Amino acid sequence: MQLLDGKVASTAIKEDIKNKISTLEAQGKKVPHLAAILVGNDPASETYVASKVKNCKEIGIQSSLFRYDSSISEQRLLEKINELNNDENIDGILVQVPLPKHISEKKVTLQISPEKDVDGFHPLNIGNMVLGFPTFISATPYGVLLMLQHYNISTQGKNVVIIGRSHTVGTPLSILMSRNNNETGNATVTLCHSRTKDLKSVCLQADIIVAAIGKPKFVTADMVKENAVVIDVGINRIKDETKKSGFTLKGDVDFENVAPKCSYITPVPGGVGLMTIAALLMNTYNATSLNIDY
Ligand code: GUN
Repeated sequence: MQLLDGKVASTAIKEDIKNKISTLEAQGKKVPHLAAILVGNDPASETYVASKVKNCKEIGIQSSLFRYDSSISEQRLLEKINELNNDENIDGILVQVPLPKHISEKKVTLQISPEKDVDGFHPLNIGNMVLGFPTFISATPYGVLLMLQHYNISTQGKNVVIIGRSHTVGTPLSILMSRNNNETGNATVTLCHSRTKDLKSVCLQADIIVAAIGKPKFVTADMVKENAVVIDVGINRIKDETKKSGFTLKGDVDFENVAPKCSYITPVPGGVGLMTIAALLMNTYNATSLNIDY
């Protein structure tokens, strides 16, 4: 069994982007600038956004963090996004979700200019992704693909079983891995969800399992065939009084019992989570260099 180490893979990707940014600087060109908006004080969101900003700094991407109280009106937030859309100095915009209930995530997603939508959540970017056109691919599915690429794990002709059909992970990943693409596609993908019959039998057919359901220890050893590749997207916060933070992070996979059967497996933490940051940085770099047609 080999660990798919998010620290190793994301460091390599970040080094690559850092070098590209140094080249931009040496040529006197503009470096990418990310605007991150955080509304309220959700502890997980605070951690994620702080990590995004820190990682930008490390590799030479400029970033600006705009923080708002959870009482900010939807109108005010939409106006701020519009201001950033029109600011030529800003290349990428992300609004951390979840948002307070009185703010429509749909309206916020549609408000961000597709050219600056480094989260890849805008319908135009999702449409481009489905059609295989150049675009921003959302951080988590993109992070999974970057992890597989880094470890030279081929998806060609493989049976891939994805558990969880969320708009941000399972659904886009099912499209990406089944696309006609020699690097990370050409898999036969089965997308499983709460109504799937006999999930265990389906999983036992999988060469690659992606768990993205948000339930700790959901994937157990009896569901995994020998030498399968297991990618754990889950980040579940479990109460743990022995930890200073008061919680410990667990994936969707029963790692201890599943790992001995696998050819490769991602740990949690230290796996896909780190790759999502690398993917966001890649999108932010691409915001200044990619020619996307809208
Ligand atoms: N909340 C959890 N994951 C994400 C993400 O990838 N982007 C944004 N904007 N919010 C998130």
